[in-house]
Amino acid sequence: MSKAISGLAFEAWAALHRQRIEAALARFIPDAELSSGRMFESMRYSVLGGGKRLRALLAYASAEAVGASSDVADHAAASVEMIHAYSLIHDDMPCMDNDAMRRGKPTNHVVFGDATAMLAGDALQPLAFRVLLDANASASGIVAASRLLADASGARGMAGGQAIDLANVGKPMTQAALEEMHAMKTGAMFEAAVVLPALMIEADQERVDSLTQFAANIGLAFQVVDDVLDATASSETLGKTAGKDAADDKPTFVSLMGIDAAQAYARALTRQAIAAAEVMGGNNARLIDVAFAMAERKS
Ligand code: IPE
Ligand code: IPE
Ligand code: MG
Ligand code: MG
Ligand code: MG
Repeated sequence: MSKAISGLAFEAWAALHRQRIEAALARFIPDAELSSGRMFESMRYSVLGGGKRLRALLAYASAEAVGASSDVADHAAASVEMIHAYSLIHDDMPCMDNDAMRRGKPTNHVVFGDATAMLAGDALQPLAFRVLLDANASASGIVAASRLLADASGARGMAGGQAIDLANVGKPMTQAALEEMHAMKTGAMFEAAVVLPALMIEADQERVDSLTQFAANIGLAFQVVDDVLDATASSETLGKTAGKDAADDKPTFVSLMGIDAAQAYARALTRQAIAAAEVMGGNNARLIDVAFAMAERKS
């Protein structure tokens, strides 16, 4: 693998676009309103000021690759980060993973209580679609993008994958079943991040297909790395409780194949993702940079 653009240049680009998503999210999310108690505060607590913003970076990189406007990029990136934030709020709740720490601070339900955390998640979902609908793009582009975001976050995507995750606690899973679960619970939202800008500008089907292929591979690689980090990194580095998967007897790539094989698998998937981005051609350097950064991440 050879890096298209130096790490330093990429880091500067990433820092700029992290600021950009922060500003976009702050713009799109409502200010606290007294009549809703602490729900707005709870939404802001989990959406703003934290996270690696990998999905947003992918949306911005993909927008650059297909030549989408900065408005389209902001709306695509923010809609995906909102669904992602809601998924984390619910994932951490006592009825799911029962986690007390996220992004280096107490989880949403620990601060605001279960009911408010649940409602903040509930409210973030339609807000994400509202953000997509408000983009300055063609009606048919927005319809296609909304359909993908719905599939990626719903029963055939993230929520469905989360249900499979919970249903398999304490049970062994085959690699095929584990891959399907990971593709749904995590990969689908990465696909949304990468493909939304292309759909919004009604890019060629061939491009959409290459981007989908790229995303499927990095999405799976991402969750394989998440499983490895859960087993190898500290809570301090991760900003969330380490060792949680083994403690909860979750089937993961580490429990299936061990740490070394899982790391090698993540690298192979990253190479396949980069090959797909190269097939697509165009202004793909940032997408390749983000894929590298995701494979090498330590948190
Ligand atoms: C964590 O995602 C949840 C999974 C899908 C495994 P990230 O590791 O991207 O979380 P943040 O956004 O950086 O906090
Ligand atoms: C959750 O997977 C993926 C989501 C859809 C939120 P995990 O349960 O492994 O995520 P972490 O490790 O708590 O971030
Ligand atoms: Mg979970
Ligand atoms: Mg979890
Ligand atoms: Mg995890």
